[in-house]
Amino acid sequence: MFSKLVQRRSLGALCTNLRASISSAGPVATESSLEEALNSDYVFDREAKYGAHNYHPLPVALERGKGVYVWDVEGRRYFDFLSAYSAVNQGHCHPKIVNALKSQAEKLTLTSRAFYNDVLGEYEEYITKLFNYNKILPMNTGVEGGETACKLARKWAYTVKGVPKYKAQIIFAAGNFWGRTMSAISSSTDPSSYEGFGPFMPGFQVIPYNDLPALERALQDPNVAAFMVEPIQGEAGVIVPDDGYLTGVRQLCSAHNVLFIADEVQTGLARTGKMLAVDHENVRPDIVVLGKALSGGVYPVSGVLCDDEVMLTIKPGEHGSTYGGNPLACRVAMASLEVIEEEKLADNARKMGELLRAELMKTPSDIVTDVRGKGLLNAIVIKETKDCDAWKVCLRLRDNGLLAKPTHGDVIRLAPPLTIKEDEIQECSEIIHKTLLSF
Ligand SMILES: Cc1ncc(COP(=O)(O)O)c(C=O)c1O
Repeated sequence: MFSKLVQRRSLGALCTNLRASISSAGPVATESSLEEALNSDYVFDREAKYGAHNYHPLPVALERGKGVYVWDVEGRRYFDFLSAYSAVNQGHCHPKIVNALKSQAEKLTLTSRAFYNDVLGEYEEYITKLFNYNKILPMNTGVEGGETACKLARKWAYTVKGVPKYKAQIIFAAGNFWGRTMSAISSSTDPSSYEGFGPFMPGFQVIPYNDLPALERALQDPNVAAFMVEPIQGEAGVIVPDDGYLTGVRQLCSAHNVLFIADEVQTGLARTGKMLAVDHENVRPDIVVLGKALSGGVYPVSGVLCDDEVMLTIKPGEHGSTYGGNPLACRVAMASLEVIEEEKLADNARKMGELLRAELMKTPSDIVTDVRGKGLLNAIVIKETKDCDAWKVCLRLRDNGLLAKPTHGDVIRLAPPLTIKEDEIQECSEIIHKTLLSF
């Protein structure tokens, strides 16, 4: 096995130049000798053998990315219509973000929060002024951001609102997704997230999404600390609530002295055509959770924004993370936010999203039952037949040079990097069109 690996690796190195010379324009046939040397099947088999089987990836083995494109180990080029679940809003390997990472990596990467570092404060000032909140609590992954928001809500409930000790409730919406920790799965309504992992976190309640009367009923309980909700539910299948839902959430939370937590990990940072998805209704949540594109996909960075009344309920030693707020993450996050602003990615997402949906709606296909979304967070719903389902459509999209992934069985999310241009949207629409008509 070992010698086989060495052989494959050296052959792979020998083939680097060969691969580089393969045309980068669209999917291409490859030389058979090259396929033997470093092929996708080898990548799939090695992961299956040595890695946990907690994912079911689309069979494509990527090795390089630039802007809206990724390339597989055989040199085939694809449009990336997932953007690492909206982490790569700024496009793959954005030079400004990569340069920020490189230059800070040579200087200082991690101090832990046992000491001060010279970048954290600069980042905190920058991001809080940008989003108009008093403070930020920096973490690493999106789910840690959600955990932090829940801890803040509970602490606020006990120390400010006056909820009796350990009676605090947090309300969530059915179909929510905020990660894989015990807390996150405790609020989940998806059996594949929670089944087999109990017992679950107490003090969580679930109400239907996009249902203001249900929220009003739940808020009659005086022990409710917060309602945590995604402005558009991403993993549930790009579920866009009715206009006015977020305004109603804001009004009800204010009326009942309950914190409105917006999980903007997927919807935030220009993805839906505004800097935050709540900006579509001009509402200001009490707590905003950010992640994913806060680093443009180069490093895990998340953060929770809120005002002092909530943030200062957590005291030294009561919450934190070794990596949270490290200088490398702070530089990467500032560069990532600057790119979003400088390149006007929110405007581009709005315009390109409108174009994409208009093109998709033109597709004369019996297998698409719905096209929906906002900005560049979109989905098509596939009618399942004996020959066709969302997974098969994604495989054929891949063969035609576009990568997307089903979410929730029959839904295919279409979420390219926000740097995508009009001619590329046209080209991708043709790929999708051609693929759908082939069924
Ligand atoms: C809305 C939302 N919140 C939180 C998360 C969790 O983020 P992470 O996977 O970085 O922990 C996700 C991930 O997809 C998400 O979509």
